[in-house]
Amino acid sequence: MASTQVARSFLQAIQHRRTIYGLSKKQILPEEELVKYIRAFVKEAPSSFNVQSGRVVVLLGAEHDQYWGQIVPDALRSAAGEQAVEASKGKLAGFQAGLGTVVFFEDEKLIQGQQEAYPQYASAFPIWSQHSSGMAQIYVWSGLESLGYGANLQHYGGLTGETLKSKYNLPASYKIQSEMVFGYPEQPAREKEYIPDHERVIAYGHSA
Ligand SMILES: Cc1cc2nc3c(=O)[nH]c(=O)nc-3n(C[C@H](O)[C@H](O)[C@H](O)COP(=O)(O)O)c2cc1C
Repeated sequence: MASTQVARSFLQAIQHRRTIYGLSKKQILPEEELVKYIRAFVKEAPSSFNVQSGRVVVLLGAEHDQYWGQIVPDALRSAAGEQAVEASKGKLAGFQAGLGTVVFFEDEKLIQGQQEAYPQYASAFPIWSQHSSGMAQIYVWSGLESLGYGANLQHYGGLTGETLKSKYNLPASYKIQSEMVFGYPEQPAREKEYIPDHERVIAYGHSA
């Protein structure tokens, strides 16, 4: 499997992953197939001690629309008043215009289990859980974009996590991490500036 061609394809896929806000509901894959891909992306994400604590809920159709058209505005209204809803209206409508939302959770029951099993790392497990969720998120984000979708990452979960858990009967131990909105990419990504590579990666000790 290892080859420079595979590495080039991988690089292309991650270079293609960008934040895309201009999304529509145009279908690319049958939804069953799309969900199968998302399952496969999440399955391959690494986790500390292979705890596999990441959980994902995919909202499609009316469920996606209700999230951005009702659940988020209602939560924003309760937390910050009508003004906050008004100020976010355009942005939320943009998310609703997409095809679906991948909601990422971590099952904290499993993290507590790790803390009990390995007390010497107790304080690190919650951090590693977040790292692992980030890894699942980047797999799904890059994977969706390699399938032709556009996606962006949102964080309304602090306001909506409990509502989602009760609506979809999810375990109390699930902790929401983020929401990834995806759809047909109607607009390109915005220009992105990069700092010099040498500021980010330094190599020492070249072999002869
Ligand atoms: C951990 C993390 C949190 C982010 N949170 C948000 C967010 O809440 N809303 C949003 O619109 N973009 C969010 N983004 C997207 C970043 O703004 C975006 O990735 C960054 O500007 C680089 O652009 P690119 O994704 O096109 O490469 C987040 C990205 C990361 C990695």
